[in-house]
Formats: sequence, C-alpha cells, structure tokens
Amino acid sequence: TDTQHQQHFDDKIAADIAIEAKDWMPDAYRQNLIRQIGQHAHSEVVGMLPEANWLTRAPSLRRKAVLLAKVQDEAGHGLYLYSAAETLGCSRQEIYQKMLDGKMKYSSIFNYPTLNWADVGVIGWLVDGAAIVNQVALCRASYGPYARAMVKICKEESFHQRQGYEAVMAMANGSNEQQAMLQDAINRFWWPVLMMFGPSDTDSPHSAQSMAWKIKRHSNDELRQKFVDNTVPQLEALGMSAPDASLAWDEASGHYRFGEIDWRELHEVIKGRGQCNHERLQAKRRAWEDGAWVRDGALAHASKHASTAA
Ligand code: ACO
Repeated sequence: TDTQHQQHFDDKIAADIAIEAKDWMPDAYRQNLIRQIGQHAHSEVVGMLPEANWLTRAPSLRRKAVLLAKVQDEAGHGLYLYSAAETLGCSRQEIYQKMLDGKMKYSSIFNYPTLNWADVGVIGWLVDGAAIVNQVALCRASYGPYARAMVKICKEESFHQRQGYEAVMAMANGSNEQQAMLQDAINRFWWPVLMMFGPSDTDSPHSAQSMAWKIKRHSNDELRQKFVDNTVPQLEALGMSAPDASLAWDEASGHYRFGEIDWRELHEVIKGRGQCNHERLQAKRRAWEDGAWVRDGALAHASKHASTAA
C-alpha cells in the first residue's frame, strides 16, 4: 500500500540509503527533483555561452585550449544531468523546451555579460568556485543518480576553478592595466556570484522540504557563508578586494561577515529581466533550430538502419 511505500521511503531517507530510479518515491519528491536537476542541467548548457564568447579571442593558444576543454566539460555536465532527470520519468526534450520557452529556470549568474578577458578568469575562479561549494553538498543528495552525477562533475569543476584562479593570478601579477581589469571584473561578478546560492533561508520556499528529504544537505545561507569564508583569503592573496565595505573577519563566529545582498536584483534576473536573459535564450533557441537538420538526419538514419536490420 501507499502507506507502506511511504514508510519504506522514509526509513531509507532516515538511514541515508540512496533512493534509486526504480524505487517508490512520493510524487512531490520526484517533481521537486525534476525541477532542481532540470534547472541545474539548463544552467550547465546556458553557462557555456558567456565563456564561449571569448574562445575566439583568448590571449594565447594555451588559454584557448584550456578554455575550450572547460566549455566542453560544461556540455558534458548538462548531459549527465539531463540523463539523471530522465531516470525520474521526464523527457529531456520536454524540459529543454520548457527552458527555451522561459518556463523553466537556469542559474541567474549566466545572465551577466562577459565584457573582457578578466571576466573569463573570474568566472572560472568565482562562479565555478561557488558551484563546487553547492555541488560538493549535492554529492550526498538522497537521490542516487543525481548524487553520483555530482561526483564526476565536482572533479571537473575543481579543474575549472583552478584554471580560473591561475588565469586571474597571471593578471594580478601583471601590468597596472591588467590588475585594474581584474578588479573591475571582480567588482561586477562578486554580488551576482553570492546570489547564485539562492534567496536567503527565510525566503526560500523549497528549502525546508528539500532538507527534510536530504536533497539539500545545507541551507542556501550556510553554503553562501562557506563560499565567502573560502574565497576572501584567495582575494587577499591576489591583492584584490571585494566591492563590499561591510566585509570583515568576525573573530567571535569564526566567519567573514558580509553586507546585504540586493535581493531585488536577484528577483529581477530570475524573472527574466536581467542584462542578458533575452540574448541567452535567443542563442539557445537559434542553436536548437539550426540543429534541426542534424536531429532529422540522425532519426532518418536510425529508422533506415532499423528497417534494414529487421
Ligand atoms: N538563479 C535562478 N533561480 C534561482 C536561483 C538562482 N541563483 N536561486 C534560487 N532560484 C529559484 C529556485 O530555482 C526556485 O524557483 P522555482 O520554484 O521556480 O523552481 C526559487 O528561486 C526559490 O528558491 P529556493 O526555494 O531556494 O530553491 P531551491 O531549494 O531549489 O534552491 C538552489 C536553489 C540552491 C540553486 C538549488 O536549486 C540547487 O542547489 N540547485 C543545484 C545547483 C545548480 O543549479 N547550480 C547551477 C549553477 S552552477 C553551474 O551550473 C556551473
């Protein structure tokens, strides 16, 4: 019966036993996972755009090769995540179409422009750095296929974060102009990166249930604080600063205190009114339409092959 199924599910969650694709699960758990994993997958593929913008203008062959590898990894992350979502019974095409139609979200951070080369380093260092903090926690998410996808993704994200830090280190040790470019990129990305962790715990509708189900192991604010604590020493090592006059070490709590996030800005970007929302969705729609002949060709080939094999 459903009561027995629910009891069995609750027992597994309590005992930290992973829920697998074929296990019974409450429908709300399934829908919540499709929502989060789907948004996560969309973020990976939309996230390729701001950096891809600089592939043709990378300052050296080495930088270009590294950036190309990183952007390709992001496509791979999207694919693992769409596959994890599909194990829950949704179709990849359906959730992808929802994203193209603006009915499913992707991370706010990818709606900001990349104006110069320093932005590419800062994205690797700060955006991927924030993604790791969030995703390391998700390696222990209660849904097995999601948690396992996260393990490989986190390893690759660590490489992305290091390549970003190495690129910003070169600029921090460079000319005055390079240092100024880097500081400008940090100034523009700092607050949007803190917003990646989502609304504050007091304003996060999904958190309580997702924590109870052990999809989320830490709250949005806890992970945001962990990121700030990790990152301030790195900023200092670079000789750079954050655009936050309130940022200060708090001896008593053992954490860095930081200023209030502009929640109105996060809300606007999530609602589709950020600087690049329109451009990003346009680019993904165009890519989907331009790829139609490849999908048609692959389908025609598969059906021809199936009929000759039969
Ligand atoms: N950008 C866009 N939407 C956001 C963001 C953000 N930074 N933060 C929260 N939201 C959305 C939520 O998706 C939710 O929308 P919905 O109800 O329409 O689905 C709403 O705002 C309320 O937020 P929460 O209740 O806090 O939502 P949730 O419990 O899902 O927590 C979080 C948000 C932390 C982003 C969570 O979904 C998560 O951990 N996702 C997986 C990680 C991820 O998506 N990373 C993508 C960026 S990293 C990268 O791709 C490199």
